[in-house]
Amino acid sequence: MSKQSALLSATSSSLLLEVVDGALVIQHWGAPVHGDLASVQTAIRPSIANSSWDQPQFPGFMRESSRGFLGRPTLSGHRNGKAWSTKFEVTDFHHQGNHVAVTLRDFHAELEVVVAFDLDQYGVLFQRATVKNLADSEYCLNEFIHWLPLPKEATQTLDFAGRWSNERNPQRKEIATGTWVRESREGRSGHNFSIADIALTEQTSFQSGNAWATSIAWSGNSHYLVEKLFDGSQSIGAGELLLPGELILSSGQSYEAPALVSVFSAQGLDGVSAAYHSYLRARDIHPQRPRPLTLNMWEALYFDHNEEKIKALVDVAAEVGIERVVLDDGWFHSRRNDRAGLGDWVIDPAVWPNGLSPIIEYINDKGIEFGLWFEGEMVNPDSDLYRAHPEWILHEADRVPPLWRHQLVLDIGHEGAFNHVLEQTSAVLADHNIAYIKWDHNRVLVDAGHLGAAGVRRQTQAIYRLFAELKKRHTGLEIESCASGGARIDLGVIDLVDRFWTSDNNDALERQTIQRWTAQVIAPELLGTHIGPTHGHQTGRTLELSMRATTALFGHAGIEWDITEATPEERKHLATWAQYYKNNRALLHSGKMVRVDYPEPHAYLHGVVAHDASRAIFAYVQLNPTVSIHPSPLKFPSLDESTNYVIKAVFPAGKPRFMLITPPEWMAGITLSGSALSAIGVTAPILAPANAFLIEISKA
Ligand code: DGJ
Repeated sequence: MSKQSALLSATSSSLLLEVVDGALVIQHWGAPVHGDLASVQTAIRPSIANSSWDQPQFPGFMRESSRGFLGRPTLSGHRNGKAWSTKFEVTDFHHQGNHVAVTLRDFHAELEVVVAFDLDQYGVLFQRATVKNLADSEYCLNEFIHWLPLPKEATQTLDFAGRWSNERNPQRKEIATGTWVRESREGRSGHNFSIADIALTEQTSFQSGNAWATSIAWSGNSHYLVEKLFDGSQSIGAGELLLPGELILSSGQSYEAPALVSVFSAQGLDGVSAAYHSYLRARDIHPQRPRPLTLNMWEALYFDHNEEKIKALVDVAAEVGIERVVLDDGWFHSRRNDRAGLGDWVIDPAVWPNGLSPIIEYINDKGIEFGLWFEGEMVNPDSDLYRAHPEWILHEADRVPPLWRHQLVLDIGHEGAFNHVLEQTSAVLADHNIAYIKWDHNRVLVDAGHLGAAGVRRQTQAIYRLFAELKKRHTGLEIESCASGGARIDLGVIDLVDRFWTSDNNDALERQTIQRWTAQVIAPELLGTHIGPTHGHQTGRTLELSMRATTALFGHAGIEWDITEATPEERKHLATWAQYYKNNRALLHSGKMVRVDYPEPHAYLHGVVAHDASRAIFAYVQLNPTVSIHPSPLKFPSLDESTNYVIKAVFPAGKPRFMLITPPEWMAGITLSGSALSAIGVTAPILAPANAFLIEISKA
């Protein structure tokens, strides 16, 4: 290989970079390559087609028009109409191990780009870049997108769409010539944010086939793109979506683009998840202590904060084995409904005449932690804050943006507003024993100006700064990122929070799909998964406790239900389920997530397998009625082929509704080899729709 080239390799993937004619070229991102690569450049040097360039062109990483590129460039911007087209040359190429940092300069446009690639041991590729203005004049940066090449075998893309209470619906489609763009313009990542954009072959499934996944580490506006050009080349990319004039670099100033976090997997979509989860778990800041079983009181109380009622809930919570109780919206100044109070983060004496300390002590005395809700980036027009500082909202000209849930967005990019929120929330935290806060964000940002300029980027950076400062001031504080459910779940905010509220939809049947796809990138222990009420508040559906409990087990588990209404039998089941969660969370929160390619559409079979393949817990979830009398058997991949296992069904929260006279014999427990479990499997029982149960598999 030439001197200016680098091969980054993990067990599962490689990235090959080379400098060609002064351009930085990604020659390969995909399956691992080894050995002599000196001739790669010659091997894949393009031929010259009729009616084409006289010499091969190498647009490389920067994808520039000046190098013959006819698609969307990596960087676009201008210097008051000049410096609109660039030709960057590599000026420095530093390679060490699985890290490469490359400096590129355009001496005419007077810009410098430093791009770094890091491939970790799990095959997760990090791309980071900074753009620096080297001139005396301002440079307006319109866009910087990280791109990766896709081979022709990638014929499909998978991304995710959604809305409130129905996040992360998969969309799989053919890649055709043109550009497929998924934009987030909500000023938060959003319900409709694609947590990843994944290129696939037609055959790629959960368990097998190639997948090229990217995820943007950013909580503000963003876009994902898949581009196929008429010359046949195709690529996948993502970046921050900058609003007009949002980023004007002054002389010497740099822009740090959000990182792109990508995975190539030859082991299907589960291979992608395994890499993302391993990377997340290896971070120093990944929550280390067992994820406490949580009771969130929102759906039990809503705005009706009644101390006696709360004590009654806490008593049942203690009996059941809850480890953290959360007081949600409604505790602060004049917040009797969702029309007032946001912005005034002081305890309301009208509902809490003695403050929150007595109820916190009541909870703590039972050995339970206390958590509290905030929504610091928002303000109701009916609040003391807005009355005092109407100018502290994100707005443009003299317009007030349309209300959403009766609220406006506080411009925390404004130091005064930032300090107001920081000091008020911090004071509540300093005065009380609060282990955790749930930080909500219940509306989108529109017309979001900061002092006359677009303000989404500044707002996003401000919330990162605010979370970091709260954590610095209050050691051990855990933060849950909530945004009307799952509208701020992304790899940007993840380094500042310990949990995500996956969705406001607590209906277990809906949750099966929402959790299945959110966990495509996010490790399950970071996803709040609660047992909802018997009659779902979002869908009105009535579901068995066993279905709700089985669904809530696969995440950071909890309950969001008025458990004072639970029958004695349901409480008994909640207690055995709680104990089951505690006994098994070490496995559930560290093992490999497996989504079996079950061949029929009526069911999901998914689970977690220990990394040493000694144990596994699966859930069989019947979504719809079966078509056939004898549905496909349940087969379990990821086990050790030659080990013998005991497999049995378990019902920690009671039995599901069967539609059978005699259940399959294996459910009581049998021994089978790992190879028999994966190749032959066990008989699937017929359950009523929307029912589920757990399957335990352990080394015999
Ligand atoms: C939306 C959240 O997602 C809910 O869980 C709850 O906290 C409400 N906001 C409170 O207003």
